[in-house]
Amino acid sequence: MTQINALKQSEPEHYEDDVRFIKDENGLDYIEIENRHATAKLALQGGHVMHWQPRHTAEPVLWLSKESRYETGRSIRGGIPLCWPWFGAHPTDSSLCMHGFARVTPFSVIDIGQMNNGNTRVILQMKHTENAQRQLSYPYTLVLTIEIGATLSMKLATTNRATQPFFMGEAFHTYFNIGDVEKVNITGLEDTEYADKLLDFWRDKQDGSIRFNQEFDRVYVSTRNEVTLHDPILNREIHINKKGSNTTVVWTPWEKKAHQMPDMPKDEAWRNMICIETANAMENLVMINPGYTHILAVEYSVTDLQ
Ligand code: BG6
Repeated sequence: MTQINALKQSEPEHYEDDVRFIKDENGLDYIEIENRHATAKLALQGGHVMHWQPRHTAEPVLWLSKESRYETGRSIRGGIPLCWPWFGAHPTDSSLCMHGFARVTPFSVIDIGQMNNGNTRVILQMKHTENAQRQLSYPYTLVLTIEIGATLSMKLATTNRATQPFFMGEAFHTYFNIGDVEKVNITGLEDTEYADKLLDFWRDKQDGSIRFNQEFDRVYVSTRNEVTLHDPILNREIHINKKGSNTTVVWTPWEKKAHQMPDMPKDEAWRNMICIETANAMENLVMINPGYTHILAVEYSVTDLQ
């Protein structure tokens, strides 16, 4: 398998699906995947997609911080962290970790293999650790299915195995790799109501497409719309189609906040990322009845800029 950073971009004529399991010096497990359509890397801690690049794209689709720390119990900065079973701060206990514990909890591999269409499908299940049990004592299962191909599709299935209903928040907290945050724009959220986290959750409606010239942290509620990220520098559009999600979060830290974060580079790298998060949060929390399963699903695809 080639290094993630030196990718072949043309589709080989004959391709053996290649899946590689790696353990680092801290004992953390990763899976590198190279198939006919794309390359990808996953971390088993957090069920975290760190890298995905379809062969028809010149640059990775996901942004990954060069200062990210790969340690037990610490979330990776970049890629696709999972926020679960709450989004943002815990509603009643501020001592619990922001965005829930799934992103720092190990997952086991349930299944991995090549599909007829050449995609690779990976099924992961979150382990029941003491740390997880301390923060959520209800019985549940959390299963993440990732399909890696020219599109990346992800399904996060939460099953309530308790005898009473439970409420939860969740997100695919996706960091996209972009040419320059001041040059991109996002469509699909026009006229959508949002809560502005930088203005104490002030409510307003999105006026036109989204552009950036400062820190931005908005939770768009009650929206199922497809969102498109237009990037004139990388000359591409990233399409985000979702199901089972009523919230979309858009976040960029800008220079000051990025430089205060220990796992973000101190250079201009913050300009090359934007988070568009497929979520259920605030009034869109999900209630799951006993024995039922809720699925949060997203599909990412990349086309040339129109
Ligand atoms: C976003 C939030 O989803 O995640 C922001 O809206 C937050 O408020 C950001 O700063 C990053 O969170 P964390 O916990 O990964 O630093």
